[in-house]
Amino acid sequence: MTAAVSTPKMTAPAKRTRKRILTGDRPTGPLHVGNYVGTLANRARLQDEYDTFLLVADHHMLTTRLTALAEIEANIRDDVLDNLAAGVDPEKVTYVLQSLVPQIPELHLYFSMLVSVPRVQRIPTLKDQLRDLGLREPTYGLLGYPVLQAADILCVKGDLVPVGKDQESHVELTREIARRFNELFAPIFPEPQALLPDVGLLPGTDGREKMGKSLDNAIYLSDDPRTVERKVMGMYTDPKRIRATDPGTVEGNPVFVYHDTFNTDRAEVEDLRRRYREGRVGDVEVKRRLLAALQAFLAPIRERRAEYAARPRLVDEILAAGSERARREAAQTLHEVRAAMKLDYFGR
Ligand code: TRP
Repeated sequence: MTAAVSTPKMTAPAKRTRKRILTGDRPTGPLHVGNYVGTLANRARLQDEYDTFLLVADHHMLTTRLTALAEIEANIRDDVLDNLAAGVDPEKVTYVLQSLVPQIPELHLYFSMLVSVPRVQRIPTLKDQLRDLGLREPTYGLLGYPVLQAADILCVKGDLVPVGKDQESHVELTREIARRFNELFAPIFPEPQALLPDVGLLPGTDGREKMGKSLDNAIYLSDDPRTVERKVMGMYTDPKRIRATDPGTVEGNPVFVYHDTFNTDRAEVEDLRRRYREGRVGDVEVKRRLLAALQAFLAPIRERRAEYAARPRLVDEILAAGSERARREAAQTLHEVRAAMKLDYFGR
């Protein structure tokens, strides 16, 4: 009798039982409360239901910061810590560092053959980028930004992509690329859907439309209580209001937008809104109550951040393990892709 010999098998990725999320951040620095309501909340909410991949898109930083990458490693760490702090649980979510997955640039190369130059030139974020960077013409790499993003999403066959509204056009391009590939070669890819936040963009503390690091008008998830106090008490409100007895405007007033977003005591918010309109409450009281609500919102986030930050090797380990899983999944996808494209010669 011959003993049973177990033949070594290539470990194929586990069979898919749940739909997949692929979402990502460019590591530009610490995340703010606007990022939280924009995408982090969706990530944390959906992590039990979906098999979620969270990609830290460091290669995307090359498209705009090629000669200013000194802080990129610190920014990657901040991004991961902020996601962990926001409750994106590494036991449930696969954290991936883009540059540790070589299959992504390979897929990007193949996808770049499926998209015309005028098509990517029409993507609205490109104009914004050029304006922000003060450039007249994009590099070849910047033009490919959304194509690279399509490779991020499709290398793990993501079904759902929680992103901010500005990213919708990138997911639309991803769908077109998936469709084109499937038609030309073989039906390998899903057509991913964008999942957009159901709230509008959170304004800056200065009342500007957008919150951002360069604008110095953001409240960060990692801000300590005193910093938050300073920022909230200095917030822009109704500029026409001089005395607490003047009737005030709540529509578009950032202090009230923040109350609506972070204050769980709806009755208090309604009461403040009414009294503000009638000139029966001062700005200081409205801000004091917002400050209390924000501190209550941020307290568990700060606590988790401190716990994770106290374990120095943790971020590295989370990224290493998650990226390894992503490489396995992407390797499988790329096998299928090369076979479909007749690129599977020489054992590829
Ligand atoms: N472009 C996204 C942003 O600027 C970040 C990103 C990179 C991303 N790759 C992704 C988002 C894949 C979703 C899916 O916010």
